[in-house]
Amino acid sequence: MPSCLMSGPGCCSAMPRSDAGTGWFDRFFGSRQPARWLLERATQRSAETGSSPGELLADFRSRLEAGEPLQYVLGSWSFRGREIVVDRSVLIPRPETEMLVEVVLERLDRKKEYRILDLGTGSGAIAIALAAERCKATVVAIEASEPAFRIALQNVGANRLSRQIEVRLGSWFTPVAGERFDCICSNPPYISTADYWRLDSIVRDFEPQEALLAGSTGLEAYETIASNLGDHLNPGGFAAFEVGDGQPDAVAELLRKAGLSEIEVRLDLAGRERFVIASAPFAGVPAS
Ligand SMILES: C[S@@+](CC[C@H](N)C(=O)[O-])C[C@H]1O[C@@H](n2cnc3c(N)ncnc32)[C@H](O)[C@@H]1O
Repeated sequence: MPSCLMSGPGCCSAMPRSDAGTGWFDRFFGSRQPARWLLERATQRSAETGSSPGELLADFRSRLEAGEPLQYVLGSWSFRGREIVVDRSVLIPRPETEMLVEVVLERLDRKKEYRILDLGTGSGAIAIALAAERCKATVVAIEASEPAFRIALQNVGANRLSRQIEVRLGSWFTPVAGERFDCICSNPPYISTADYWRLDSIVRDFEPQEALLAGSTGLEAYETIASNLGDHLNPGGFAAFEVGDGQPDAVAELLRKAGLSEIEVRLDLAGRERFVIASAPFAGVPAS
């Protein structure tokens, strides 16, 4: 952030006075920080494109007035301290997903090498955080949507993690046929058709439907993933999932049926059961 913005927009001598006003944004968000981010982004884009900051701020304002989430308007968002480019082809990475990463990291020794699979990578946020925080790990990140796949590739490159992360286009395990991993994690779509129509319009109208909807029960993606885990987890490996409200028992049962054990349900910061982790048996040891 330019230092002049730290002491208030009025101090920014490089910007015409009419462009520097962020009062509307302050009122819209009820706080000054988003207005600062938008002003910073307008300044940056102005330098890149030659458009005036005032024109860019007017465009930001009309998009926000139309209900578009701040993250898409800014064009990037922070995930575990890393900048992740987002557009409407990818889900905006959520704070609870940062906790899914935390839950996975707890089980990965910094000094060991692991092969990790991130299913439904979207922007690449989970894969990027895991690779950045476990530098000996390699990650294969799968995405079925081509526009999302391109954003993930862009984010992996921008975060300088191309040597650790390979992004592959395709559905679930199809691009990793015959391959095994020490950890398989996913924040898959988990909204049922009925719940989809009850979502806040800021989510339903702007975020990609294929990132949210998972059939009439909301469990379709977990069913497909769970039924394939046995063919793709190394002995002693583990799987970790983010789940929706009310889904932990059903997902735990799918994992049990898939032969996994030591099933654990973990809470998010709001105390809701949001993560299910389970282990594959070690070679020669039947699942308990
Ligand atoms: C809930 S979003 C999660 C995105 C990202 N991992 C995150 O946590 O921010 C689910 C992602 O799964 C992708 N997806 C949906 N169906 C898929 C499939 N059959 N195979 C691979 N990815 C799929 C969607 O396009 C979307 O990017």
